[in-house]
Amino acid sequence: MIKVDASKLGREIDYSHYAKEVAQINESIEKRTGAGNDFLGWANYPLTYDKEEFGRILKAAKEIRDNYEVLVVCGIGGSYLGARAAIEAINGLHHQDKVEIIWFGQTFAASYVSQVLKYLEGKNFAINVISKSGTTTETALAFRLVRDLLIKKVGPEKAAKAIYATTDKEKGALLGLAKKYGYERFVLPSDVGGRYSVYTAVGLLPMAVAGIDIQAFMDGAEEARKAYSTDEINEAYKYAIIRHQLYKEGLPVEMFVSYEPRFVQLGEWWKQLFGESEGKDHTGLLPDSATFTTDLHSLGQFIQEGSPVLFETILQVTSPEEDVVIPHDEDNLDGLNYLEGKTLDYVSKKACDGTVDAHVEVGKVPNVLLHIDSMGAKELGHLMYFFMRACAMSCYLNGVNPFNQPGVEVYKKNMFHLLGKPGY
Ligand code: PA5
Repeated sequence: MIKVDASKLGREIDYSHYAKEVAQINESIEKRTGAGNDFLGWANYPLTYDKEEFGRILKAAKEIRDNYEVLVVCGIGGSYLGARAAIEAINGLHHQDKVEIIWFGQTFAASYVSQVLKYLEGKNFAINVISKSGTTTETALAFRLVRDLLIKKVGPEKAAKAIYATTDKEKGALLGLAKKYGYERFVLPSDVGGRYSVYTAVGLLPMAVAGIDIQAFMDGAEEARKAYSTDEINEAYKYAIIRHQLYKEGLPVEMFVSYEPRFVQLGEWWKQLFGESEGKDHTGLLPDSATFTTDLHSLGQFIQEGSPVLFETILQVTSPEEDVVIPHDEDNLDGLNYLEGKTLDYVSKKACDGTVDAHVEVGKVPNVLLHIDSMGAKELGHLMYFFMRACAMSCYLNGVNPFNQPGVEVYKKNMFHLLGKPGY
């Protein structure tokens, strides 16, 4: 379903050179023998996921949709980016659904937290707190604050019914809280890391509350699992090889480009997936993202003529779900009648073609084009799995563990020390 188009790279890639290594890495993913192998639960998850829990997710989502105006999703990093990316990519940015979703627990910013709490005072809301460790400070603090507000508003019993906790099955502070107060619990499996968790309750519960067909999302993921878990150089591995080759040729930055504002958060999710997985041992591509044509009026200049450090990965959706026809104007003072009767998607595609040529032919910036037919729940489920599989392959090609994030701990230790946390 995803077509990787390498025709705008400005060089030939010798895929056969990687064939043996790719087959070995694929086997190590399948057999769970590579570095970080205790975190490979995501690879078969679209096939093996807990169907009983899936049913409970649907039931909980219905309860929330039927009884609350707002769902507060409390999580950070892998415990929130996937759900947000999926909801915005599928529903768009001005989807007037009956349940509003508020992203919380991803910042210490006092102004943001305070504004959200004030806003929630007048709302009938539920909370989905998501944390595998249960000790992530941003999330834990935000949860304490929003839970206190909820208890003040509706009392402890109703509050407990309105709180849904997604966490580890066996350990962690959040698990202790959930057990003590009887919150409905969902599991983030111990062998699935945060940034690979969008197919678990971490992604699925907020998505289902947003009215997204999560069965279609899982079907798309399963379709992708079958397509990209092969020994051959499938499309996901082709993309991984291209990235690896360009990095080796001296391009340290990959810019993920889409032509739709609803994919901005998909870019954020993609950046976390690749950045946190690959950026180790002082190696790895720096993942960046941009939305065109908006950012052609800002970053476009740098891409065209700035330091030659990057290549672009362009997500191209063939058929838009909605389109707008450009009307005739009698006066034509804006000079736009040459476009009358055409659609905005037609204009956008021409802008994309012109930009690819400008960047590739004149700017000498290699472009990888990822073609996808459309962007519904099934297609997004497929695309996210494509990226995860490509990411694992990229990391192993670079010789790093795709599933740990040792560098993230350094800021936490410093912060805990400065805050006077016992033991630091
Ligand atoms: O990808 C990851 O593992 C991280 O981004 C985590 O998801 C993030 O740090 C949140 O951790 P937790 O779910 O333990 O609160």
